[in-house]
Amino acid sequence: MSDIGVIGLGVMGKNIAKNMLNNGYKVSGYNNTYDRTQELMAENIPAFRGFEKIEDFVNSLSVPRKIFMMVPAGAPVDSVIDELIPLLDKGDIVMDGGNSFFKDTNAREEKLNKLGINFFGVGVSGGSEGALKGPSIMPGGDKESYGYVGEILESIAAKYNGEACCKYIGPKGSGHYVKMVHNGIEYADMQLLAEVYLILKNNGYSNREIAEILDEWNKTEVESYLVSITSIVLKEKDSKSDEDLIDIIVDVAGNKGTGRWTSIEALSQEYNASLLAAAYQARINSNEFELRELLNGKISVGTGEKLDIEVIRKAYSLGKTLAFAQGFGLYKNASDRYDWNLNLKDIASVFRAGCIIQARLLQDIMSAYEEGTNNILTLPVFKKQVVDNSADLRSVVVEGLKAGLPLPVFTNALIYIDSLSADLLGANIIQGQRDYFGAHTFQRKGAEGFEHHDWGASE
Ligand code: 6PG
Repeated sequence: MSDIGVIGLGVMGKNIAKNMLNNGYKVSGYNNTYDRTQELMAENIPAFRGFEKIEDFVNSLSVPRKIFMMVPAGAPVDSVIDELIPLLDKGDIVMDGGNSFFKDTNAREEKLNKLGINFFGVGVSGGSEGALKGPSIMPGGDKESYGYVGEILESIAAKYNGEACCKYIGPKGSGHYVKMVHNGIEYADMQLLAEVYLILKNNGYSNREIAEILDEWNKTEVESYLVSITSIVLKEKDSKSDEDLIDIIVDVAGNKGTGRWTSIEALSQEYNASLLAAAYQARINSNEFELRELLNGKISVGTGEKLDIEVIRKAYSLGKTLAFAQGFGLYKNASDRYDWNLNLKDIASVFRAGCIIQARLLQDIMSAYEEGTNNILTLPVFKKQVVDNSADLRSVVVEGLKAGLPLPVFTNALIYIDSLSADLLGANIIQGQRDYFGAHTFQRKGAEGFEHHDWGASE
């Protein structure tokens, strides 16, 4: 009998299956089109068995059956679940390793639990290479059933100093929630690096020089996977011409939805994740073809002062910290709101290797949660960074905006800390307006409770 079955043998599923095989597990495989299964069978890995019929696949698994699905998020997940239901027994465990929306995972978990089947929404990060060599894994579902699958998931996960980058996250859709916000942070950090590129390019540096600057930065506290791959992307030559590949890529960004979900969810949780939302909006805006064409080059801009590279680095470092602070703030907020009891230190620890947002600062984030904070910015190292690097962030935004550079995430980072440090936000005006037209009341300084005023008497 096989230890585990993998459904969906596209690039990600195939690599997850191989990772399990490399870790000594016997694996059964099933794909809705048999050719993919046959491709993996053709590799003649003795512990792998492929099946054409889903019934035979299910019957090949030891009980309780453990099935890892790696199929596209949305309808395909439901149709595989519906095919599986009549074939499974109480106590079997189905895991969804795709980027499913966490509320869908909540609903699927409830549906399967009623039938006695355990369902796990498993966040998996690290792309296809990570899937093969060790991804970061965020499993959410029934804690007791985790005992049956934890060993397999932890053995295929990336390791940081020998520690598995996979920990039980929490109940229901919490694993997929954690992966969703991971992607929100991913979008923000990617956009910050895109903005760093705009600033350095505007200051006259070539792609190669920008890559070399990023290589130097990667020896500092901003060290991360995204900084390293951005440097590689900038150095790459086109295979069809002698140009840098980056210069022939169309300036339009796509997305598959996780950044949008993060932004929508932040709004519905009433939590300010402005950097994450700005990064998503920047991608959307890059697709505004008609308006971009209409206004291209029509706005008069200055040049902006050339900035010291260290100023830009410190601004980036602060922006990156704020993106993580907002993402982890969302985790805390969701944990309370949904009663998930998330362990934020564990979440930081599983991000340290294998995933797209792996970064040196995660170690400091772990220390923040060791000290029992609600928000990482309260940790001295991060508070000091806000205070010390805010002038650098301001210079980058001011000079960048003078030069007409669109810097949505840097700008939102500055607005975020200015909004937290300002004596006056103007929210008193909002409350006055609300009370004027809707009798929504306001609080008087130094007094308890709310009051309404009959406005206009002193006109
Ligand atoms: C990861 C990535 C990955 C991501 C896709 C699509 O952690 O491995 O986050 O899962 O979802 O690369 O991302 P886009 O929304 O940018 O297409």
